[in-house]
Amino acid sequence: MVWSRDLSNHWKFLRAFCWTHLFSSKAVESQAALRKEKVSEMTDFLSSRKGKTVKNSEILFGAILNTLGNLFFSKDLCDLDYESSTKLGAMPNISDFYPLFDALDLQGLRKQTELYQNQLQAISRGRSDFLDVMIDSGFSDLQINISLPELIVVGSDTTTSTIEWARAELLRNNGAMHKLQAELTSKIGENDIITESNISELPYLAACVKETLRIHPPTPFLIPRHAPETCKIMDYSIPKNSSSYHLVGRRICPGLPFARQEVHLILASLIHHFKWSLPNGEDPMQLDMKEKFGVTLQKEKSLLVVPI
Ligand code: HEM
Repeated sequence: MVWSRDLSNHWKFLRAFCWTHLFSSKAVESQAALRKEKVSEMTDFLSSRKGKTVKNSEILFGAILNTLGNLFFSKDLCDLDYESSTKLGAMPNISDFYPLFDALDLQGLRKQTELYQNQLQAISRGRSDFLDVMIDSGFSDLQINISLPELIVVGSDTTTSTIEWARAELLRNNGAMHKLQAELTSKIGENDIITESNISELPYLAACVKETLRIHPPTPFLIPRHAPETCKIMDYSIPKNSSSYHLVGRRICPGLPFARQEVHLILASLIHHFKWSLPNGEDPMQLDMKEKFGVTLQKEKSLLVVPI
């Protein structure tokens, strides 16, 4: 979907299908328990690492990948505790995780050995997932094997990168960090777990996320689009087949309703449940904020942090 250059009927159908089954307000609401579970696994893991250095993006990526993995095929895709991992993807390298999907054999998941099927069913807890819906709706193996990895790649990379940038900016801005901590403590009890119903009560959190996206817009802005016909945009004539780069219009991100909940919930939980320092007493103002071009504009040097 992301990489398709024209506005074909197939693309329109797939977009509408994803909207209905993944991103409508009803669908996003029904995923709240799953997001909560994966965030709680992440905070539990971080609690077990108190005082030790962790790679922020790896933890975020693992939690988001597992959320999408469960949403799409009722399966965790990696183990947050990658040092003692027995799971499929362990802790994948963010820039190198396509091979993970070869191992997964998406459509084959439902056709593989009985043992594997039983394991999957045990994990699925009887929930019907997006892969089931695609199969039941008659999508071919090829369509599934292209669409699902694409959704996972785009969804996990953009979301991880947004939170990574937000965390780095907050570490460098003491005033903003204190204001956010104060908002969280005033709206949510000190030891209470943040839920998605809290998000609308946290305007400063929303402002931090918005500002992060303004300063560090994700790469999809830069995916070239080709005009299917000659057309006019704001008085400029765009010739047929010429390239353009844009966020809004018919190609606006369909995953934003999911991403909004995920980004706010994860960022708020990390700030509310932990204090953070940098390894070896590093000065946050000296953090390397250079960007690197991947699926998104990522932080070139991964943020290393110590949960306290
Ligand atoms: C903070 C998180 C996110 C940001 C900032 C973001 C941003 C964007 C942007 C700017 C585009 C438009 C690119 C273009 O011109 O085609 C886009 C497209 C897309 N995004 Fe997101 N996205 C996020 C999360 C997600 C998630 C979680 C998913 C799915 C799980 C997702 C799925 C998609 C898809 C499928 C497209 C292509 C849409 C199309 O071509 O019709 N995104 N995203």
